[in-house]
Amino acid sequence: MKKAILLYGLAVGSVLAQPAAKTTPTSMNTFIDRLLKQMTVEEKVGQLTLFTSDMDVTGPTLRSTYKEDIQKGRCGAIFNAYSPKYVRQLQDLAVKESRLKIPLLFGYDVIHGHRTIFPIPLGEACTWDLGLLEKTARAAAVEASADGLHWTYSPMVDVAHDPRWGRVAEGVGEDTWLGEQVAKAKVKGYQGDLTKPDQILACVKHFALYGAIQAGRDYNTVDMSRREMFQTYLPPYKAAIDAGAATVMTSFNEVDGIPATANRWLMTDLLRKQWGFKGFVVTDYTAINEMIQHGVGANEYEVGALALKAGVDMDMQGDVYRTQLPKLLADKKITMPELDEAARRVLEAKYKLGLFQDPYKFINDERAAREIMSADKLELARDVARKSIVLLKNEQVLPLKKTGTLALIGPLADNKRDMIGNWSAAGDWQKAVSLREGLQAKLGNGATLLYAKGANITDDKELLTKLNNNGGNLSTDEKSPAQLIDEAVSTAQKADVVVLALGESQGMTGEAASRSDIGIPENQRKLLEAVLATKKPVVLVLMNGRPLTLEWEHEHVPAMLETWFLGTQAGHAIADVLVGDYNPAGKLTMTFPRRVGQIPVYYSAKNTGRPMDPNNKYTSKYLDAPNTPLYPFGYGLSYTTFSYSDINLSSPALTAAGKLQVSVTVKNTGNLAGEEVVQLYSRDLVGSVTRPLKELKGFQKIALKPGESRNVTFTLTEADLRFYDAAMKWTSEPGDFKVFVGTNSQEVKEAGFKLVR
Ligand code: BGC
Repeated sequence: MKKAILLYGLAVGSVLAQPAAKTTPTSMNTFIDRLLKQMTVEEKVGQLTLFTSDMDVTGPTLRSTYKEDIQKGRCGAIFNAYSPKYVRQLQDLAVKESRLKIPLLFGYDVIHGHRTIFPIPLGEACTWDLGLLEKTARAAAVEASADGLHWTYSPMVDVAHDPRWGRVAEGVGEDTWLGEQVAKAKVKGYQGDLTKPDQILACVKHFALYGAIQAGRDYNTVDMSRREMFQTYLPPYKAAIDAGAATVMTSFNEVDGIPATANRWLMTDLLRKQWGFKGFVVTDYTAINEMIQHGVGANEYEVGALALKAGVDMDMQGDVYRTQLPKLLADKKITMPELDEAARRVLEAKYKLGLFQDPYKFINDERAAREIMSADKLELARDVARKSIVLLKNEQVLPLKKTGTLALIGPLADNKRDMIGNWSAAGDWQKAVSLREGLQAKLGNGATLLYAKGANITDDKELLTKLNNNGGNLSTDEKSPAQLIDEAVSTAQKADVVVLALGESQGMTGEAASRSDIGIPENQRKLLEAVLATKKPVVLVLMNGRPLTLEWEHEHVPAMLETWFLGTQAGHAIADVLVGDYNPAGKLTMTFPRRVGQIPVYYSAKNTGRPMDPNNKYTSKYLDAPNTPLYPFGYGLSYTTFSYSDINLSSPALTAAGKLQVSVTVKNTGNLAGEEVVQLYSRDLVGSVTRPLKELKGFQKIALKPGESRNVTFTLTEADLRFYDAAMKWTSEPGDFKVFVGTNSQEVKEAGFKLVR
């Protein structure tokens, strides 16, 4: 280590090595000023160039000469490279062989855990436990940093109302306010105090509005009003930046007609000037190149200029900056100060991490051996996994007894690959606990566990090929669908109760995995029908990365658990819940529609001028479906029951400087201890612009013993009631409000108050 530091100190020659003392803006500026003076144009552009290694590629292109680029100072950052050994080899190329010996920055998609995989973000959000969400980010940072990484492409905070979009799995669902809270928790968890060697840079993505793509089709067009942007879609990105997120990733979509990656209003006026963002902006994968297809530039030369001028600092994998910026500079299409500014931002990130002091700071075999998949992380993974499970329905089937005969059936029952979900980074699916293993461990010799596969994930050969071409690892049973079902039925007949694990394979959600039908695949539905016909009690354990349409299932199946893709400890976590060792308390953070035709359906919709009236034809509704979703935002049951008292307000009016206490008494009216997420919503009845029917303003997660009551009090202030008014000013307007408290966004108690000036 000492040798490397010395080498580095020598390397910068007249430039002082980064001082060991705490970073100050002056010391950093002086250091970077001097460094920039020594850099050639090619070396400056090198700092703006990010290539994937060939260890673990996430996208379409690979530059085979990336190692030579590192040695020549033409590449300043690498992604998809991890583990002390691998990272050290690449860092050696930069700090021992390149002219200025500027260390590389190592990035990676550490999305829901690094080696220990936690539930997919949409699942994890259902815990409504911000402390826990911060902890999983912290644990991911500890593992990732020990593995040589400096930078994660997370959190993804794209608000989304369309479950056809596969990437809803990566975010926290439909709500802006909840999105803001989770964004802050994640940034804090990853970054903490960046001078420590176990903290990594966060990258808030995808800036901006990616979650609003039309028709849920990935990479599609986005078009929305400025009001909707500011009110609904932008706040979570802003919250991440206010929490100190060091970097931002552009999105693939256009924003107001201009691709995000070329959008100067977005990347400079809003992000830097208005919001004060000081870090660097990286493109999404080849997003600069794609602007040719978007049709805003004829060639890489033109789109390269657009991106740099917009304020985009680093080119992920596109190789446009490396090839075009020198020419653009020579042609005076971009300026040296513009190039310097971008290079400076990247160098600052490296400086803040202390890499100029010790480029190997994050590479630590001993720490990697100790931290990766350590017992405490596996325990955390199991805890967060069971807290992410949402009980959708239960007609006295759950919890199961730990005796008798249980039949476990379904393509996801004895499955490890799918447990860790998509974007499972360096997670090793072979180390995941399947539901079969989890249940077997739970039941021991006390009960008999029978198993039958019952169906493949899908009988659609074309879909299977697509999934397997992208790492699906889906083995298909050679037996015919009818044979598989027969086996399942005879297995079910031998059992007292049946647990059916059905849903999506992990590749059916995530990037480039949009679906126009979001039901359980047809062959799995047939299996479900056949097993239900045995009249045995059935628990449907759903595994999926998005809200599904489950109208039929809800009508016919007595018990249903939503388990998402729960990560490394999935099987144990589901078993804990099935037998009641853990009482489920998860609540949905994205509405489940009844049918695809209702999409987008979300709780914070507006009233319209003709709200639904079943007796009036000319009102806003469908001829063939209700307006209401199957499961609303905030929904989730427990093995116990809770009652809510009426709301008690501390005053009928709230003043600008005042506080309004909103209280309810929540009682556990069942026989088991349980947790409840008590949710607070408000509605502004009259505004200078139309306002949503409900907006989440707070929540508290409480634990109650059987028979126990608790007073839950929320405090509302004028600031909680602000919005963008007709003049796009962030303000509140006096008048009548409603406040709601309840167990989900639909089942609430309500009261009214006035905001007075
Ligand atoms: C995704 C990003 C991801 C990047 C790097 C892109 O395709 O949109 O979310 O961070 O690849 O793997």
